[in-house]
Amino acid sequence: MRIITLPAPDDFDAWRDAARGLIADNVPPDQVVWQVGDQPADLFGAVAADTPTTATPRFNVSRAFIDLARSVILSNDPERFALLHTALDRLRHQPRLIEDQADPLIRRLDRLAKAVRRDIHKMRAFLRFRETEDAEGPRYVAWFEPEHHIVRANAAFFVNRFTTMRWSILTPEVSLHWDGKTLSEGPGASKADAPEGDPTEAVWKTYYASIFNPARVKIGAMLKEMPRKYWKNMPETALVSELIAGAQARESGMIDTAKVDVRSGRGGNAQAAWAALREEAMGCTRCPLHAPATQTVFGEGPVDAALMFVGEQPGDQEDLAGHPFVGPAGQVFDRAVAEAGIDRATAYVTNAVKHFKFEPRGKRRIHSSPNAGEIQACRWWVEQERLLIQPQVTVALGATAARSLFGRVMTIGRERGKALTLPDGGMAFITVHPSYLLRLPDPAAKEAEYARFVADLKLAAGALG
Ligand code: URA
Repeated sequence: MRIITLPAPDDFDAWRDAARGLIADNVPPDQVVWQVGDQPADLFGAVAADTPTTATPRFNVSRAFIDLARSVILSNDPERFALLHTALDRLRHQPRLIEDQADPLIRRLDRLAKAVRRDIHKMRAFLRFRETEDAEGPRYVAWFEPEHHIVRANAAFFVNRFTTMRWSILTPEVSLHWDGKTLSEGPGASKADAPEGDPTEAVWKTYYASIFNPARVKIGAMLKEMPRKYWKNMPETALVSELIAGAQARESGMIDTAKVDVRSGRGGNAQAAWAALREEAMGCTRCPLHAPATQTVFGEGPVDAALMFVGEQPGDQEDLAGHPFVGPAGQVFDRAVAEAGIDRATAYVTNAVKHFKFEPRGKRRIHSSPNAGEIQACRWWVEQERLLIQPQVTVALGATAARSLFGRVMTIGRERGKALTLPDGGMAFITVHPSYLLRLPDPAAKEAEYARFVADLKLAAGALG
């Protein structure tokens, strides 16, 4: 029997090093006892001490397995290390095991990963800071009780979101402290260590407004998602009945739209399908951009829109608000669209990439362009949106959108001003991104380019049947 002691319950690297050694030494999974920290070692009558090995395994595993394992390690299931070791062992002979959704081991690992992802989301959505004062000024302190070992994995999100504040997050297992520059860890805490009182208005208002998504409100689901232990920590739950009422009103609006849609002969309930798609996209982890972003910013507009606009990715303001094209580029877009004689409310507006990609710089989050892998990972959502909406005409705003829609690099200068055919047969036009206009330093060039942009939009609108 081999006993492996990992330094912490969420230490993926330590698990991976140990598992590699075990595989290299051909130690079967049922001959290993995994433990964390200084827990008792001999629960199962294990006799041997750790036997470190320096051997390296002779096979590579897929990115998909690594991603799955990184999530599963954070689970509170004591069997997770052994389950992953078993999967790793089997991958030697079944390299495509991870794709086999009928395999009970894979199904179990997927369930564990999903529970972890849900817990990560809950921590982001339901954690509330209270303001306290120490010798150096205000410090924001929050208490949170996660179900899984997700606190360290979630730290980067809070550092990015609240970079300029000094804060502490206290949890039973570990506490995190951010002083504006460095993140440090302390021991677990109890609720009594956290300040009482209302969460800090200014902090939670923006944050909560961006996280609370009325379209997602289903009372049963909400109670399931937001167990009572979080409610008591969130005085804004007093607002919940009001928000639910608003959401229900919106929902009946959606149902009416869906009826219109059915009448228009499209068949099926496109609105409900769109809502389900959006809901699914809210938990998207197809690429790493989901981690630091506040939320998925999905497309918006009527499901029977004849015109679809595809931008690049949400910016800082879109990320907070949860809606596409509402920041500075959105204002240029709104103005140009109106000048082109298009009513934005009749168009479906979305982005090639649904999460904000940025570099933190001081207090600001600086836009960073999505790479080919990120565009590719998000294409699935754009394709689903197109399948549902089936627009007559699609307009790619900028190179990223064009790449996503056509599946290859497109040169704007060469392709703009003409009707193009998308791989799915739809008609498309390519033009510049509105933020390109914002960046032009020369006022004359800016004006000329803006006029060309409006002309491109008019051309697209003119192509509608
Ligand atoms: N830029 C985009 O491409 N999309 C947005 O939603 C905002 C800015």
